Amino acid sequence: MKPQTIAIHEPAIRRDGAVTPPIHLSTTYEHGPANEPINKFIYVRHDNPNVSDFEARIAALEGGAAGVAFSSGMAAAAAVLMSLPSGARAVLHHDLYFDVKTLAREDLPKRGVSVDFVNFCDPEESAAALSKNAALVWIETPSNPKIEMIDIQSVAAMAAQAGAKVIVDSTFATPVLQNPLALGADYVLHSATKYMGGHSDVQGGVIVVRDDSVFVESLHHFRTVTGGALAPFNAWLISRGLQTLYCRMEQHCRNAGKVAAMLEGHAAVATVRYPWLESNPGNAIAKRQMKAGGGMVSFELKGGRDAALTAASKLRLFINATSLGGVESLVEHRASLEGPDSTTPDSLLRLSVGLEHIDDLLADLTQALRE
Ligand SMILES: Cc1ncc(COP(=O)(O)O)c(C=O)c1O
Repeated sequence: MKPQTIAIHEPAIRRDGAVTPPIHLSTTYEHGPANEPINKFIYVRHDNPNVSDFEARIAALEGGAAGVAFSSGMAAAAAVLMSLPSGARAVLHHDLYFDVKTLAREDLPKRGVSVDFVNFCDPEESAAALSKNAALVWIETPSNPKIEMIDIQSVAAMAAQAGAKVIVDSTFATPVLQNPLALGADYVLHSATKYMGGHSDVQGGVIVVRDDSVFVESLHHFRTVTGGALAPFNAWLISRGLQTLYCRMEQHCRNAGKVAAMLEGHAAVATVRYPWLESNPGNAIAKRQMKAGGGMVSFELKGGRDAALTAASKLRLFINATSLGGVESLVEHRASLEGPDSTTPDSLLRLSVGLEHIDDLLADLTQALRE
């Protein structure tokens, strides 16, 4: 079956014949007198039918053995990072979703895990970083917010030689545009809050594992004992979002491509960061490992921070708000959000390009960039 079909029909369970699955709100499930399971489920914090439906669907779309869902992308990230034992070393790409960076930098060392940030776009720097002992390589591609592209296949090959596991945060790409497990990654992470939910109204996260059943068990254990389970209603909404993800991504990519091209030709703009632009240093990698450029565009203004903030304040359709991947277009000055530790240029605005008519989006950007 093609992914568009899998996204709609997996898993093919029709409880009581319902075409649209019911939401299972029960927190607890009948068991035998000595706690013997009668059904698959015991307690909502352990597992739930809507959660396991979502996990089956996303695992099928990513081509993995199993998915483990969490209450947010960060809960999923924490489950992976906190699995590292004391004495281990994690090597992370230098441009990452900010809270993942913070968790790794501030909390892992307290647990005896050493952390290095390196530029995985640079093969020599990557090889040098992996010449020392490493347990985990964490990359995000395209990265947030600098839209850097990392060659998943080559990093996975280097990591395998070094005996390290590789996780790819593929939130920007979604399973529609990129399948990291097929390129050699061990795990893929998604913030389901973004494109999967697709309507800025649900929070969730998931790890899909290629073939490591021991790690799946450890993720389940972490979720159970820390309480980061995905809520049944949220799982239901995200599964529903997956059914339209393929159609939505086509339009996100079409609109974002036109926005990136328009910005690249604009006199007020210094740089545009979009995977499909030939000017992007990672363009060849993007074309190899992605099916299209995605819906996220970052750009820098010649006038620096002031020009960026002025443009952001003049935008009308693009809402000044954090997050991404919803039907509506958003703009964000990431350096302001990320604070003093940010490595994001002050002149950079990040756009989550939505599904509005492209003429309206271009008109909004044009009026906001006018002197
Ligand atoms: C690339 C990326 N990964 C992970 C996360 C964290 O996801 P959540 O907000 O669902 O915890 C985000 C959130 O913005 C993100 O952009």
